[in-house]
Formats: sequence, structure tokens, C-alpha cells
Amino acid sequence: MRVLIVKNYDEMSKEAGKIVKNRLEQKPDLVLGLATGSTPLGLYKELIRMHKEDSVSFAKVRTFNLDEYLGLKPDNEQSYHYFMFENLFKHIDIPRENIYIPDGQTKDPEKFCQWYEDEIEKAGGLDLQVVGIGGDGHVGFNEPGSSLASRTRVKTLDEGTIKDNSRFFAKPEDVPHFAITMGVGTILESKEILFVANGAGKSAIVARAIEGPVTSQVTASILQIHPKAVAILDEAAAADLQRKDYYKYAEEQARRFEKSL
Ligand code: GLP
Repeated sequence: MRVLIVKNYDEMSKEAGKIVKNRLEQKPDLVLGLATGSTPLGLYKELIRMHKEDSVSFAKVRTFNLDEYLGLKPDNEQSYHYFMFENLFKHIDIPRENIYIPDGQTKDPEKFCQWYEDEIEKAGGLDLQVVGIGGDGHVGFNEPGSSLASRTRVKTLDEGTIKDNSRFFAKPEDVPHFAITMGVGTILESKEILFVANGAGKSAIVARAIEGPVTSQVTASILQIHPKAVAILDEAAAADLQRKDYYKYAEEQARRFEKSL
């Protein structure tokens, strides 16, 4: 895994934006997996800026979101549908029919989840999946204990996750207890994974995900077995990494090497 440590949130977002831009240049019909949460907001601002200022187009891109709360309508301000349209989709040129987000209102979750998997496959698979990390190490909503081979399905949210995410809701009781999430196995099949994390609150779990054992107890640790994963962390989130100095040194060497070509 490539570990890129940058100064702050702003730089994390810009570096992540550069990667997405580069992949879009290589493949304008990129199949892009997207995440919610506060962490990727800066990346989405950067994508909007690139669209407006640098004419980056999303006209041929297809997006698949990681997850959605079960039971929330798309126009509910706490739904991930609402989040994605407000913070990204309505500001770029992606056609509505190219946007896939799990349906939180499905009456037949099992059938829906299979359909979602089939659509990812029909699109040719995910090219690049953006992920963050939850306080308990979850990726998507794959709570500790999720099978590392899991596919898109309904997960019961951990109490800690409900508490963490209650900051977005009027009352903690309003936080749904279930979500549809891509499985760990689904995420692992993406050709590339872009992991972003910032802030001191994430440093301990980031260290477990990147340097701890690969375990279903910290589902983000699957990044370690992915052939092409990059972690972009700000200094605060990287603080507990034991090999922090090496990652920085390796990045410097890689830049020097690229220049010499
Ligand atoms: C939710 C999402 C995750 C996200 C996590 C962290 O649980 N399902 O995809 O990574 O929140 O959110 P934040 O970036 O706000 O810390």
C-alpha cells in the first residue's frame, strides 16, 4: 500500500483530487466508487472546482456509492442520497442515470443488493473506490466482524457508529440502525482503492488498519491485501503510524526517481 502523509486536510483533499483527475484523464468513462462522511467533502469540493475551472468532465463517469441508511427517503437531509447530490452531483455534469446509490427504501433488500452487485459487474467493475474509515475501523458500513468476503447486503450498525453519526441528526434516536453497504469483498474487487483519513481522532484506528493485522475486526485493514491501494492521511491521522518516517522517505524517493526518468 502506498501511504502518503500530507500536512493537513486541505492537502489531503487536493492530493486525492489529483488522483481522481489523473484516472479520469486515462479513462473518461471511469467507474468511480464514492463514500460519504465528512472526510471526502474536501475531495468533492476539489472535484467541483476542477469541473468548473479546469473543464474536467464527468459526463461519461458512472458512480456507485458505498452505502445508504435503510429507511431514509432520498430527500431526507441525512440520507446519503441527499448528501451526494448536495455535495457533489448537482455541481458537476454527471447524468442522473449514471449515478448509483443503494436504495434505502427497498422493500426487498436481498433482491436489491444482488441487483446492485450485478450493475457494478455490468459496468465492468469499479475502477477506483474512495473510502474513509469509521471510528471502529469500518469501511463502508462493514462493522467489525463482517466477513472479508462479504458482498452488498444489509448490516446492523454498531452502537458506536450510531453515536458517531448522530452528530448529523437532530436526535440520536433518529439514526437508523440498519444500512445497505457494499461488502468487503465487493470493495476489494475495485481495481484501485483511495483511502482518505484526517484528524487526531482517527490516528489510533488508522494505525490499526494500516499496520495492524488484517482482520475482520477492523475491516479497513483489507487495504493491506489490495494490490493497488493508496492511503492519503494528514499528519494528525498519521500520528500513530510506527513507520511514518519510512512512508515519507519512500514518497520522497519515488518523486526523485520520477524526475530522473
Ligand atoms: C460512515 C460511512 C463511512 C465513513 C465513516 C466515517 O460510517 N458509512 O463510509 O467512512 O462514516 O465518516 P467521517 O468521514 O465523517 O469520519
